[in-house]
Amino acid sequence: MGRYDGRVAIVTGAARGIGAGIAKRFADEGAAVAVLDLDEGQASATAGGLGAAKALGVGCNVTDEASVQDAVARVVAELGGLHVLVNNAGITRDNLLFKMTVDDWDAVLGVHLRGAFLMSRAAQKTFVEQKYGKILNLSSVSANGNRGQANYSAAKAGVQGFTRTLALELGAFGVNVNAIAPGFIATEMTDDTARRLKMDVDEFRRLNAEANPVKRIGHPEDIAAAAAFLCSDEASYITGQTLYVDGGAKI
Ligand code: NAI
Repeated sequence: MGRYDGRVAIVTGAARGIGAGIAKRFADEGAAVAVLDLDEGQASATAGGLGAAKALGVGCNVTDEASVQDAVARVVAELGGLHVLVNNAGITRDNLLFKMTVDDWDAVLGVHLRGAFLMSRAAQKTFVEQKYGKILNLSSVSANGNRGQANYSAAKAGVQGFTRTLALELGAFGVNVNAIAPGFIATEMTDDTARRLKMDVDEFRRLNAEANPVKRIGHPEDIAAAAAFLCSDEASYITGQTLYVDGGAKI
């Protein structure tokens, strides 16, 4: 018996990185998992590798209302329901304020905030009708401010307010809404940051490990373990919270 037997989970931006790690953990614990990402081929390839009894890859742009509605309807129809939504899709467009373009600002706010809003609004219908649902949003330690990330920091702080508000609105309908704020996690996103800073990826990871209280960087599995707890029934009295999974980096 797995904690997620009989559950259907959507993880956005799950073709790779943290999302793929969360999708894998849900599948290992018995869930049917829908991997949503921009490219349906990549989403399907990741879904096929999860080893789940039922998995589905869906091409979806979380900033596009019609794409989101189609994707959620398809998951409910093909996987037989919906119980868990993880709003994980994300991008960075880092720059100091004086160099940040309107496009950089809009793109980042769009994926993290508009995306989480559209996905949550589409999923809540099923959740409220069945009086059961779990929403997990990906925030970041950058919510507390990070040089060069005015757009990303604002978006990730916004995610925390969005989380608390959905928890207030949906609690009476059996829906828990929480967030995880990761610290440095080794993925393409942080490797891209290293390249943008013209640093060697391994050296960038080593320096981040050295600066961390527990002297290591994080991996998608670290976030997946926390996600699997927060979206489980063991956590049904936990809602509106943001859990920092960062090796203590925030303190
Ligand atoms: P990643 O860049 O490896 O993966 C992000 C995925 O989101 C990609 O597969 C991408 O195609 C997808 N995506 C981007 N825009 C999309 C859209 N409009 N619609 C659907 N999918 C879209 O990133 P990573 O590191 O796995 O990050 C996952 C989440 O965790 C993001 O929300 C990120 O901001 C957050 N996070 C990551 C940290 C890290 O150190 N890697 C730290 C804190 C938060």
